[in-house]
Amino acid sequence: MNETILITGGAGFIGSHVARALLERGYRVRVLDSLIDQVHGGRGPTLLAPEVEFMRGDVRDEAAVTRALEGVGSVIHLAAEVGVGQSMYAIDRYVSVNELGTAVLFQQLIHKPVRRVVVASSMSIYGEGLYRDADGRLHDDVLRSPRRDGAANWDPLDAQGRPLVPVPTPESKRPQLASVYAINKYTQERLTLTLAPAYGMEGVALRLWNAYGPGQALSNPYTGVLAIFAARIQNRQRPMVFEDGQQRRDFVHVGDVAKAFVLALEHPKAAGQVFNVASGQDRTVEEVALALAAAMGRPELGPEMTGKARSGDIRHNIPDITRIQQELGFSVDRDFQQDLAELAEWVASQQQAEDRVLQARKELEMRGLVA
Ligand code: UD1
Repeated sequence: MNETILITGGAGFIGSHVARALLERGYRVRVLDSLIDQVHGGRGPTLLAPEVEFMRGDVRDEAAVTRALEGVGSVIHLAAEVGVGQSMYAIDRYVSVNELGTAVLFQQLIHKPVRRVVVASSMSIYGEGLYRDADGRLHDDVLRSPRRDGAANWDPLDAQGRPLVPVPTPESKRPQLASVYAINKYTQERLTLTLAPAYGMEGVALRLWNAYGPGQALSNPYTGVLAIFAARIQNRQRPMVFEDGQQRRDFVHVGDVAKAFVLALEHPKAAGQVFNVASGQDRTVEEVALALAAAMGRPELGPEMTGKARSGDIRHNIPDITRIQQELGFSVDRDFQQDLAELAEWVASQQQAEDRVLQARKELEMRGLVA
């Protein structure tokens, strides 16, 4: 494997794990990353292995991207703003980094085409996942309507007012873009799958579910929910759960996400396709809050239900991972409790994580985005 792989946004949580997996397979790895403060807190690329060639720069900066593409065989495009809630008010920033950034990358790739471009997309593009009604009919167009006062639960209902049950969502479900972030991720995906073949390259998009594990940014209030909960528990505060905590997600360990990127980069069948990436095991947010508090030795810090929803959030989305399993041979074999203990250990090894979660929630509330 003599290829040099450029990872944009590679100094972050997922990128640093992908970089390590690639180094282990004998690739040379270069990272282009602007080290935004919200994620990196003014620190350098501390998560990166020393063998990685690091270049500081913004993916929207043509000159930086041109330099970063020099001698590169394939690209993994991870540079992005990632907060679903934040995307609903920092609209210009999200569209700029996520969409213009991808456009600049492809503009430069026209002059320096590579073998393959793998982009990180998101399950967010589905909006609500696939649901089944009481008669067994599937619904791929479920929209969340605002919860009526006194309604017993937060789950979407069918036209007769009967609750719909979430079922695994395959790649064929039509997208429903419920947040600026989802719009951005779909654009990134389409740009990749449209432009790569137009210029003799192969494009692949991975739709990630909720990645977690060591290296997750702890002081970033817009980071994933497990890191937010871990930071709060470490600061002896109870995790704050939106809605009633029964919303379902699939939490996938970052090591498995890295494995999926390697497959997406190497497997001949991956070219031109999109793949769901998840563990195949869905859980409620309440369940993971309880399990994390236990793994961190603070079972008394049980979740606090806010009874409020975050604007742009979806209720349930659980994955169907058959395609990546069958076509690329992806498999997951992990112990969730052990992985939470590993996350807890990482949290404990960090300096006291700044708890900016309350401040972030205030920002959303001020703008009427939590109600
Ligand atoms: C996350 C990622 C997104 C990724 C997507 C893929 C982040 C910031 N977002 O979005 O980049 O593409 O997964 O699946 O990593 N919640 C609480 N309390 C909190 C924070 C969140 O209850 O303090 C709830 C949310 O309302 C939501 C769930 O936890 O129901 C997950 O939230 P979050 O971790 O932000 O993930 P997604 O929105 O699913």
